[in-house]
Amino acid sequence: MDIKKVGIIGTGTMGVGMAQVCAQAGIPTVAVKATPGTPERAQAGLEKSLARMVERGKMEAAEKDAIVGRIAFTTDEGAVADCDLVIESIIEDLDTKKALFKRLEGVCTPDALLTTNTSTLSVTSMMAVCEHRQRVAGLHFFNPAPAMALVEIIHAFETSESTVRALEAFCKEIGKDPVIVQDTTGFIVNRLLTPYLLSAVRLLERGTGDIEGIDHAMMSGAGHPMGPFALADYIGLDVVNAMAQNIYNDARTDHHNPPHTLTRLVELGYLGRKTGKGFYDYSSKPPTANPALKHPIS
Ligand code: 3HC
Repeated sequence: MDIKKVGIIGTGTMGVGMAQVCAQAGIPTVAVKATPGTPERAQAGLEKSLARMVERGKMEAAEKDAIVGRIAFTTDEGAVADCDLVIESIIEDLDTKKALFKRLEGVCTPDALLTTNTSTLSVTSMMAVCEHRQRVAGLHFFNPAPAMALVEIIHAFETSESTVRALEAFCKEIGKDPVIVQDTTGFIVNRLLTPYLLSAVRLLERGTGDIEGIDHAMMSGAGHPMGPFALADYIGLDVVNAMAQNIYNDARTDHHNPPHTLTRLVELGYLGRKTGKGFYDYSSKPPTANPALKHPIS
């Protein structure tokens, strides 16, 4: 199946990042804002990020304009009616996603591929509300979508082989490096990454090292581009906490249980980079450890 047009539902960081990737590969893309309001902020954010790449000499101005020109930002879900592939990237709430899949079946053609970018929710549960289940799958991109090569293609219970093959070809066409995964909570990367991030928090709680020391060790000693605390802040502590909770609910293994310090930071509204504070305080340059963590949080 040839994917000539892509629809993205949700214009958050991942939605806009995936729209950029598709448009950069020359594919006309519709980006639908899923929550109330206009999509202008999302479009302005994309243009600003592309303008930075032009300034840094990583992209020609003409390419930036072509990418922006290939993305139609809208609030109308019906605009994905003629898309061959839809990727949803809305709030991580299973009931909201199931309702969206039901609506998409009414909007899209029966052979359009319907996919989810969920981090840890069950693709099979979304498939269950659909009539044409063979075309439902997961398509899990990583943040930042334009820079991260991997896409996990999630094979849910009734996903057909032709759907998986079409998604694999699509990923290669947009310059990504796909892996096929069975529908297990957290798939491959989040299933392994989440307990790693939680273990770093537990080392901090035990006093094994401080935030900067643990991050420095994993960058310098294990070759990671970011240490676990910088990465957790980058992903968003609410997202990490929700991933841990979802995997824990499924696996019931202690090492997936979100540690006290993480849940307290989320409760306090310290969600990482997006709120200016998480494990680090981003008001200083370079960021320094969040002073709230100088004393154990209880
Ligand atoms: N848009 C487009 N391109 C971007 C970008 C963005 N937002 N951010 C970075 N890039 C590109 C740069 O242009 C550059 O490309 P080039 O090598 O072709 O010139 C490349 O990425 C490297 O960027 P920089 O040199 O600016 O910065 P760094 O070298 O510091 O890399 C990073 C930044 C790519 C974010 C790197 O630190 C990294 O890989 N960090 C780990 C990120 C990670 O693990 N993400 C996965 C999180 S888990 C997840 O997403 C799953 C979800 O379900 C929660």
